[in-house]
Amino acid sequence: MLASPDHTISLIAPAKINLALHVTGRREDGYHLLDSLVVFARFGDRLSVRKAAADSFTLSGPYGTGLPVDDTNLVVRARDALRRQYGEQATPVAIHLEKHLPVASGIGGGSSDAAAALRALTALWGIDVSPVKLAALGLPLGADVPMCLHGETLIARGIGEDIERIAAFPRLPLVLVNNGVTVSTPQVFSVLARRDNPPLPRLPSLTCLDDICTYLGQTENHLFAATETLAPSINDSMQALRDTNPLMARMSGSGGTCFAIYPDDETAETAATRLRQSQPSWFVVATSTTVEGN
Ligand code: C5P
Repeated sequence: MLASPDHTISLIAPAKINLALHVTGRREDGYHLLDSLVVFARFGDRLSVRKAAADSFTLSGPYGTGLPVDDTNLVVRARDALRRQYGEQATPVAIHLEKHLPVASGIGGGSSDAAAALRALTALWGIDVSPVKLAALGLPLGADVPMCLHGETLIARGIGEDIERIAAFPRLPLVLVNNGVTVSTPQVFSVLARRDNPPLPRLPSLTCLDDICTYLGQTENHLFAATETLAPSINDSMQALRDTNPLMARMSGSGGTCFAIYPDDETAETAATRLRQSQPSWFVVATSTTVEGN
């Protein structure tokens, strides 16, 4: 989190990547029980907040056009949820979001933005709130908000809110790809063939990329088949990634963003350059995961 001389606080709302996502059950309210190994990328949206005479919320960036700026936007809902709880401290604020992540694409854009807004605004307003309480306040905004508040490698269970921190996880060089396919998360969950899959295998201590890929080979993204049925072009992204010879490739969340893991940053950059050349209209980013304390 950065604070500038004019007291603007700005921070990255990173892409969330489900390295593995098992669907293990369904709650009575229709939400699904998950078991998911989640990492965060160095790449994401950028959110900034500063005190102002009146509230405002503005958008820019390659994916900012056409997004709502009213209270259907998760950033505005995060601001209002905090204000309901901490009215007196919550003075007017100007919020700006630079949108670099494709919208509704399985990498937690909206949830990550909401989590960034909660973190930035609690800092700006000097609100002293425990991480547990902030996560509880964020959960109604979206099941992924608590994990995005955590922001470091984790396993998420329950509907996403039961978080186990994973320490000492190696940094993964990655490429993220989205071919523009739009997928509705509720629809993907609603057409799942099975909801009673086994949980993730126990996570051993993973010290190198080969260990991670061996482990991930024993796991899946159980949402993939449903996404593929609804949006067959997800396979174009998967095939394009596979053609770059990564260590592994998979879809994140309910899609349509897919990721691939590479042995080093240079190979990831080369793969991204090649993908951008062959598919100039796609979202293609070479990045890597954040490691604890960094
Ligand atoms: O919580 P969020 O708004 O991100 O979830 C979007 C939709 O995805 C939910 O309304 C629900 O249909 C589905 N979902 C689910 N189980 C989860 C998370 C999301 O069924 N654990």
